[in-house]
Parts: sequence; C-alpha cells; structure tokens
Amino acid sequence: MIKLNNYPTKDPVLVTCGLPYASGQMHIGHLRTYVPADVFVRLLKKMRVDVTFVCGSDTHGTPVLVKAEEEGLTPKETYQKYHKILADTFPKLNIFFDNYAHTDTDENKHRTLQIVQTLIDNGHIYAKEIETPFCDTCGRSQPDRFVRGECPYCGKDARGDECDQGCGRYLEPGLILNPRCAVCDNPTRPITRKHQFLKLSAFEDFIGDFLKNVDGTKNARNFALGWVKEGLRDWCITRDLDWGIKFPGDDSLVLYVWVDAPIGYMSSTEQWAKKIGKPKEWEKFWKPGNGRLVHYIGLDIVQHHCIFWPAMLKGSDYNLPFAIVASGMVKIEGHNFSRGRGYVVWVQEDYLDRGLDPDYLRYYIASYTSQTKDLDFSWDAFADKVNNELVATLGNFLYRGIHFTHKHFGEVPKGTLDSKLKKELEKAIETITNAVNEYELKKVADEVLRIAAVGNEYFQSQQPWKLVKEDMEKTGEVLFNALALAKALAIFIEPFLPSAAEEIWAQLGNEAATIHESLLDDALTPPVVGTKIIKPKPVISKIDEDLLAELKEIISNRVAAASAAQSSEVEIKLAPIKETISFDDFQKIDLRAGKILTCEKVPKKDRLLLLEVDIGTETRTIVTGLADQYKPEELTGMTALFLVNLETKKIGGIESHGMVIAIEKGDEPGRWLPVTVDGVPPGSKAA
Ligand code: 2FM
Ligand code: ZN
Repeated sequence: MIKLNNYPTKDPVLVTCGLPYASGQMHIGHLRTYVPADVFVRLLKKMRVDVTFVCGSDTHGTPVLVKAEEEGLTPKETYQKYHKILADTFPKLNIFFDNYAHTDTDENKHRTLQIVQTLIDNGHIYAKEIETPFCDTCGRSQPDRFVRGECPYCGKDARGDECDQGCGRYLEPGLILNPRCAVCDNPTRPITRKHQFLKLSAFEDFIGDFLKNVDGTKNARNFALGWVKEGLRDWCITRDLDWGIKFPGDDSLVLYVWVDAPIGYMSSTEQWAKKIGKPKEWEKFWKPGNGRLVHYIGLDIVQHHCIFWPAMLKGSDYNLPFAIVASGMVKIEGHNFSRGRGYVVWVQEDYLDRGLDPDYLRYYIASYTSQTKDLDFSWDAFADKVNNELVATLGNFLYRGIHFTHKHFGEVPKGTLDSKLKKELEKAIETITNAVNEYELKKVADEVLRIAAVGNEYFQSQQPWKLVKEDMEKTGEVLFNALALAKALAIFIEPFLPSAAEEIWAQLGNEAATIHESLLDDALTPPVVGTKIIKPKPVISKIDEDLLAELKEIISNRVAAASAAQSSEVEIKLAPIKETISFDDFQKIDLRAGKILTCEKVPKKDRLLLLEVDIGTETRTIVTGLADQYKPEELTGMTALFLVNLETKKIGGIESHGMVIAIEKGDEPGRWLPVTVDGVPPGSKAA
C-alpha cells in the first residue's frame, strides 16, 4: 500500500526500468517508463536516498528473432545492433543508468541458471506434455510472436503469448484459438511436446498477500489482484526455440524470455557492483534484507512483474519487489500507438535529429498526466507545455530575476528571505515529497510551476524596475528574494530539465554540474550574498510555429505512407487446399464455355440473377448469386466457364441447370469474378 512516509529512507533503493527488447529504435512509447523513472531517481537523490538505477536490453525471445528474420541478420547481430542504439540514445535524453547491461551476458546466464536450478531443487518446477503450434510450411515450432490467432478471453486477434489487439492478457502456449503461422500465414497444427512449468498455482496465497502490501501504483496492484481472484494457472517457462538460455537438463528447450529478462535486473546490478569494485554490493538489494526494489514498468507487463516475477523471487529465496510503478500507455495524436499504421514518434529521427531539446520532451512526458493514465502524445500539447509553462511561467521568472540582478548589481545583493516566501518553499518541499511517495510526478511539476508563478507575482508586485530608481537597498532585498526563488526552482526542476537546470545554476554563480548533487532542503538556503551573477540568456525557448507544423506533418505523412503501403501490400488469406480427389472424379466434371444470352434480376431475391446460357448443345436456365456484384447488363453477352453436369437445383424457386465458375479475389473476400473465356465458341470444353 502506498504510504506517505516511504521516502526519504535510509534503506538502499534499486530502481529498474522494464528492459527494452533489442529489436528496434527507441520511440516515445519507451519513454513513458524511462523518463519518469529517471526523474524519480533524481528526486530520491535530492532526498539523500542511497539509490542505484539499472536497466539493460532484452536480447532473447521472439521479438528479437522476428527482427533478425526481417533484417537477414543472426539474432546475436540483431541484438548487438539495437542494444548499441538503445544504449547510445538514453544518455542523449539525460537518462543515466548506473549500469545498462543486456540479457545475453555471462552474469545473466549464470544468475538465470542459478535461479531456475533453485526453483527445481525447491520443487517448484515440473514437466508436462502440452500441444503447441507447429508450422509444416516453415518446418518448425512457432511459439509466441511467430503465431497469431484469436484470444481465448476476448476473441480479438492476438499473438501467441499476448492479446496485443484486445484485452492485453498473457496467453499460455497452446491457448490461442485458430492459430496461424505469423511468417507464412498457413494454419499451424498442434504438436505434443514436453515443456517445463512453474507451479504458480501453489503461489496463489503468497501472491495475494504480496500484492496487498506492495507499494507503487494502484493500477498494477488492482489488475494483478483481479487475475489472482480468477485463480492462477501454472506457467510454462520453456519454448521450443534455439535462441535463448537452455533449460538445465533439456538442451532442446530454451527458457521463455520472461524468465531471464527480469533476472536481467539482478544481473545488471551484479555488473554494476563489479564495475564499482564492490562485487558483493548487489546483494544489499537482492538478498532478503532492507534493500528496496522499485520496478518501473508499462501497464502491458503488469502480470509478468506482479505475478510471475515475485513467484520466481520467492521460490528462489530472493528479496521481493518493494514497489511496482506502472505507467499508462502512449497514444499518438489520439490513435493507438502502432508502428505499422504510422502512429509512432521516433526519438532519434523525429526529435533529436531536429535539434529539439531533450529536456522539453522529458518535461512533457513526466508532467503531462498522472503516472497511471494513458498519455495521448500530441505535438500541439507538447508545444503548449513548452511555450506556456516552461517559457512563459518558469523561464520568464528566472530570466527576469537573474537578468535584472546582473544588470544592476552583478552579484547576489544583500537581503533576508521573506518569511512568506520561505513558507511557500517549505510547502513546496512537502508537496514534492508527498508526490514522490505517490509516484506522481505531475504533482511535482505542478508544484514547481506554482512556485514559478509565486515568483512572477512577487516580482510584479514589488516592481523592482521602479524601486531601482528610488531605493537600491530595497531593490537589493527584492532581488535577493527573487534569486532565492530562482535557486529553489533550479533545484526543483533539475529532475525534469537536467541540462537547463545546469545553465540556471551557472547563471546563479555556481559550478553547473553541482546542481545534480543539490538537495531539496537546499532550496531553503538563499544564495550566498556577493556571489557573482553572470549575464543570463533565456534557458528555455519557444517551439517555433514552422517547426511545429513540420513535426505534425511528419506524423501525417507517415500515417499516409503506411496506409498506402497497406493497401498495396495485399493481405491474402488463402483457404486451405481441400481433400484430394481421384482422377476419375475429376474426369466426371464437365466444364464448358457458355455465352450469356440474357440476364435479369429474380424478383424479390436481392442476390439472384437468372441467366439464359448458350452452352453449344442447348440453351440452359442457370441461376447465380451475383446480383449484389453485377448489373444484368454487365453479364449479358459475356462468355464464361460453366459447370454443365451439376444436378438440377432449385434456387429461389427456379430450377437451375448448371453453375457459372467464378473466382474469389484473394484481396477482397466475397468479391467473385466469373471466369471469362470471351472469343471462345459456346460449348468448347475445359479440362
Ligand atoms: O515488454 C518488453 O518490452 C520486455 N522486453 C520487457 C522486459 S522487462 C523485464 F522483465 F525484463
Ligand atoms: Zn509458417
């Protein structure tokens, strides 16, 4: 349960972020987790908390395999390529992990095998035969993202292990209905295979209790409690793949990626401990004790973190998560995030490459809405936040105060902190601390803006531009207070805008980088009188209208391109080949060219057309169901192929003596075209 006095704490805190798959570039969806986690870590540091921040790339599983096949690379080449891109992009966004690892390291393999072996030794794992999808065309088992079908819970189109288009549930292997191979689109067939299961059902009570006590956001806890109420199914932890960590004792199976991925949190901490020369330091978080594990994740992976992961930790005698903080998902300009449909914003290409300031994006993402709500990313909203909050409220106050002081004093003038302003700052520290305890960064940002507004009001009401002509001492007093507020604002805003805060800090006469070590409480200590103030320049600038239009155009162009590509990239759902017939059966079929002499609608039957057909030997009455697709005059005069020895059948009350052969357009199910043989004399036979 969220308690308002969890932070600050003397206990060491480890913050982790869901490991991104090393299978693509970074996009805005990723940032919904990483930015708030980084801001949170910076805020904890400002509360003197001993905090360590780790993450890494997720290198196993079908996401990496699918990408490797797409790019013609080996899985290892694929993850190496994207791991580097991800690792290089985080610092460009001022996201600094104490360690950024990946899951194909020796540390991770070793720790995974140790944990799985302990789970086996503790009797939590058993083998069972299950049916899983096999694709005869591709000649292999097709687990997880290699298979698509219907979600057994909500009926929507789903991946093998996740209902990505519908209810979002995790799907156990073999549960998906009407499975089709995602590579070749043929139906898969079930094969029976021995797999390994974690006895999750035995952890039901434990997980229920764990969830009642775990800190973090309500959404994570409540979703997971709902699943526990439905009853937990045992969890299949192996896959019939070559890529991954081999299951101990059965080389033909690898561990499901969701076994070794969260263990990546632990092995990344181990790597960090080695890096700082204290190889045992990781244990202070992971061995039972007072270390606190705080997992920042997306809402789509709550089940993995609130159910599978605590069961694995408990079953292998490790520490349990202290908090699970789940962020809402990201929409793009009102649409569900979708790379395929063009609703995506790429961090490097669309943002950094256009020279946009990473701090603005950090601020927008962390402060736009509650941590648990979906963020509907929109360039207009982004520009609005930057122009009206960062520039007009915060930037304006900072620039005015510092500029005026520099111009008239050149240093921090003499003064004492106004008691009302001091109270405002005390209140701000309390509000920020409470917001951190609730994992609600929007509340922190709102409070920073409130103080900036207090600053603007103060400046406006004291009118130093008038005072300076009459009373230098009083002017100094006002500016001293304005600088005290500016200093506090630099400290408060640093978690969101680390680079801009450095600049403000330097303008206030400090060494820029030391802002990162400043504490929340330092906001109550005004700047030292006599400190030199350097000539300021505005640290935040407006998003230009032309650039804004360009940014919006990128998305609309991408959406248009995706939709054009989708309509040209015909998705043909081919029906399976029917049962084999004998040659004798085939020879019984009599197909002939028939000329449609007349064609008219059958009264009161919307779909039926009545044809008089010359089949060479005679004229036949044939009824066909094409009225919804053709006008009678379109078929009249056409020579098409007819089955002429089909038994007579009454259709719409009329006897039909044969059937027109038509072909269904593969890309337009339900659209039938008669097979025309124009120019061929009626009666000519087909074989
Ligand atoms: O959903 C994902 O993108 C996964 N790669 C997250 C893994 S989180 C953790 F468990 F490693
Ligand atoms: Zn296939």
